[in-house]
Amino acid sequence: MDKNLLNGIIKKYYDSSGKVLGILEDIQEEEKYLSKESLAYVANRLKMPLSQLYSIATFYSFFNLNPVGEHIISVCMGTACHVKGAPQILKNLEYLLGIKEGDVTEDGKFMLTTEDRHFSLNTARCFGCCSMAPVIRIDEKLYGYVNLGELPKILKKYGWKR
Ligand code: FES
Repeated sequence: MDKNLLNGIIKKYYDSSGKVLGILEDIQEEEKYLSKESLAYVANRLKMPLSQLYSIATFYSFFNLNPVGEHIISVCMGTACHVKGAPQILKNLEYLLGIKEGDVTEDGKFMLTTEDRHFSLNTARCFGCCSMAPVIRIDEKLYGYVNLGELPKILKKYGWKR
């Protein structure tokens, strides 16, 4: 990431107590993930061990330490969604996107990304709208009562091509 942009983010959040989470959130918003270079730069600027910054970044599940696709699809695997077919939704998305289950990223998180980096797919625990199960989220938008037949139609809204 550009150093001026990074400096602006650090300046915005850093005070005597240090607001590391805000810094990391803004970097992720810009880069879509936390690159090694940006983390090293921030650690250096905040004069904190890089390992400490990594600990924070890996503790919170919403931080990505690996590049992700342009659109992130999260399948809720909470109890209500699981019962209503979330595992089949996940399998079908893997099939439609041509990515396979089981890949785990460097930081130990489950995140699959298509070769063209257009989509990433992961799972979530609960979006807090269990009555709409099964639920998926694409970027910030939630889709409830999802069924297998409508998945291609939903994906097409985000530029998916078979
Ligand atoms: S279990 Fe899926 S939204 Fe709550």
